[in-house]
Amino acid sequence: MKQKLIQLKEEFTAEIADVKDLKKLETLENKYLSRKSGLLTNLMKGIKEVAKEEIAEIGTLANETKNYIINKLEELRASLNRDLIDFDFTVPGKKPPVGHLHLATIAIREIESILEPLGFIRVRHPDVEWDYYAFETLNMPGDHPARDDWETFFIDEAPIKMNLPENSLKLVKEGRRLLTPHTSSIQVREMEKGILPIRMMNISKCYRRQIDISHVPMFHQLEGLVIDKDINITHLKGTIDYFVKKFFGENRTIRLRPHHFQFTEPSFEVDISCGLCQGTGKLEDGSSCRMCKEGWLELAGAGMVHPNVLKAGGIDPNVYSGFAFGWGVERCFSMKSGLNIDDLRLMYKNDLRFNEQF
Ligand code: PHE
Repeated sequence: MKQKLIQLKEEFTAEIADVKDLKKLETLENKYLSRKSGLLTNLMKGIKEVAKEEIAEIGTLANETKNYIINKLEELRASLNRDLIDFDFTVPGKKPPVGHLHLATIAIREIESILEPLGFIRVRHPDVEWDYYAFETLNMPGDHPARDDWETFFIDEAPIKMNLPENSLKLVKEGRRLLTPHTSSIQVREMEKGILPIRMMNISKCYRRQIDISHVPMFHQLEGLVIDKDINITHLKGTIDYFVKKFFGENRTIRLRPHHFQFTEPSFEVDISCGLCQGTGKLEDGSSCRMCKEGWLELAGAGMVHPNVLKAGGIDPNVYSGFAFGWGVERCFSMKSGLNIDDLRLMYKNDLRFNEQF
């Protein structure tokens, strides 16, 4: 028994030298001390068989061995625990990489939040649209050459019978489908709802056969449409001016330039003063501004809703009038001061080096 105790102590000493973590420590503790089957526990059960004259010596040795094992285990446990908390709590943690919303979504939400308090309600309509709404009802019948301006993706099919709403005037019976090239295609859809006055915004995807630094084939447009009694150009101008000051900054101004659209009369293009040269066209060093043309950047198309469009929507142009405006969301976002987005295609490349700058 004496020999066995000495041997056990030696074995334990050798084993504990290899223990480097708390889990192994626990295994070792169980191996020697577990109540049911620990090596030392088992050995001590044999104390009954020890001869009387040896019992005092063996008992002392057994206790010493037990204490030795317990102390060694505790010592090691304390030191392993100390290693675990040997850690500087004041060092800032590593942040997990967090993304952000797509730039178009950021712009859409901002536009929406500016126009909503003015009473514009956001509406949604399909991207796959009838030629009827994109062109026909917007005063561009059949083969009207103005249609060419929209570089449209038509669906390759012969004209088919259209499923238009009950109260639609159905100016033509058959039509073709297309990917909507502009958000104006919802003007008559909204009028057909038959609820007046109208004050709505449509911010959605548009598609055109164009790709270069200022165009992507899938992009977003905003359309604003107001129809009520006694609506005139000052309402249009005031609304866009308010928007521009909120979105681009209080120091930006707008101007309306005469233009032509088939579905508005009169029609305008809306320019905003350039944020880089403050509308002067000249930079501080006297050179011409590289952002704009003589102090102005082109933002939007706009105008008073054409009487033929009101008629196509079942509204009497002698009683009601309205204004509409529309512009590209990506382009509008890229015109914010200081962003320096000089190629719109970057917004859809998913290049993190670009995305992480915002
Ligand atoms: N839909 C026109 C475009 O795509 C913009 C526009 C909207 C013009 C509303 C007038 C009124 O260019």
